[in-house]
Amino acid sequence: MSEGIAQPDQRVENEGGTRDLFSKFDDIIHTRETLLATGVEDPYNLVMEKVLSPTRAICNGRDTILLGTYNYMGMTFDPDVLDAGKQALADFGSGTTGSRVLNGTYQGHKECEDALKEFYNMDSAMVFSTGYQANLGIISTIAGKGDYVVLDIDSHASIYDGCAMGNAEIVPFRHNDIEAMEKRLRRIPEDAGKLVILEGVYSMLGDVAPLKEMVAIAKKYGAMVLVDEAHSMGFIGENGRGVCEEQGVIDDVDFIIGTFSKSVGTVGGFCVSNHPKFDIMRLVCRPYVFTASLPPSVVATAATSIRKLMHGSNKRAHLWENSKVLHKGLVDLGFEIGTDEPQSAIIAVIMPDLQRGAMMWEALLKEGLYVNLARPPATPANMTLLRCSLCAEHSAEEVQTILQMFDRAGKAVGILAS
Ligand SMILES: Cc1ncc(COP(=O)(O)O)c(C=O)c1O
Repeated sequence: MSEGIAQPDQRVENEGGTRDLFSKFDDIIHTRETLLATGVEDPYNLVMEKVLSPTRAICNGRDTILLGTYNYMGMTFDPDVLDAGKQALADFGSGTTGSRVLNGTYQGHKECEDALKEFYNMDSAMVFSTGYQANLGIISTIAGKGDYVVLDIDSHASIYDGCAMGNAEIVPFRHNDIEAMEKRLRRIPEDAGKLVILEGVYSMLGDVAPLKEMVAIAKKYGAMVLVDEAHSMGFIGENGRGVCEEQGVIDDVDFIIGTFSKSVGTVGGFCVSNHPKFDIMRLVCRPYVFTASLPPSVVATAATSIRKLMHGSNKRAHLWENSKVLHKGLVDLGFEIGTDEPQSAIIAVIMPDLQRGAMMWEALLKEGLYVNLARPPATPANMTLLRCSLCAEHSAEEVQTILQMFDRAGKAVGILAS
């Protein structure tokens, strides 16, 4: 082991003998330093020096294809979206400096919520400052002490944090396992408050939930249902409403959570619902009340983008084509992929271990391709993944170039036979 690498037990106490509260991070510091000591570039410290388009940026001085941005519908440089943002910046200033319930609700926030209601054809919409806060706020507010939250074990961190904040009883079940979910529901006292939380697309492997079956079971046991459509909004479903639309259950779910940081192409989060009392959330939901609202330019870009996504069927078709070509191409090259068939715009390439995953990530970057390196504990089954998220603005030629880059990098690193 090289000098200067901290051993896990070295930092428990500082000089004064007081316990260092940072000692709990020693394992992760050690793993990181061991990896960086091999000379590999830090995969979590990349700087985009200039962003040229939804699919290209300058990284390390080099023109790089972006394949890890979740910018599924490529709205970040849409001329109408940019114009709306510039106009709002000029008309309303750079920020609201206030909570939605005080001075932070501008015309633009209302228009953004109207666009969401129209997009989903739902009665109510509530915009949060991020998707993380939307999950945190809605889950912690509706599921409190004594209530039960039944959730897929691979749920996003914001879902778990929402459960922890609300202090509800968390009942996890095996990923996408319909029977396991029913078994958990059966054991919960009949008269208890129950919330089932599912995601349309799970972002690690890019697989889709069997919502049709799961929502039916949840209803059978009297549970309310919340579906996080962060990775499916805009792309999946005839009108881009997500997996709930695709599987015909949109009218049966109680809450849909989403984000503006993926298909919508900006930042923010939301919840839509048909619940008759939903509006009370604006007064009782702490992550909505006790934080500043989104800047006017952001809600203006979001509203414009959402309205354009309603008419995005050509883009959706092209994105499906990209996803199919990339999935098949990677399988043909000899890579192991997280799903047998492409189910979303996420294609997860399974790496043999963290070391070779980081080497492959770096080799791809040197080729001029950016993907996400995902590693335990964020990944299921301790996998190291190169997560590729496609964009509707990737051309067919770019997808072929991406495949050639994977081929060369895979051979250089020894993951593919040369
Ligand atoms: C499933 C899921 N929910 C919620 C979020 C949070 O979204 P935001 O980036 O808007 O905070 C993410 C972000 O990665 C996500 O993947």
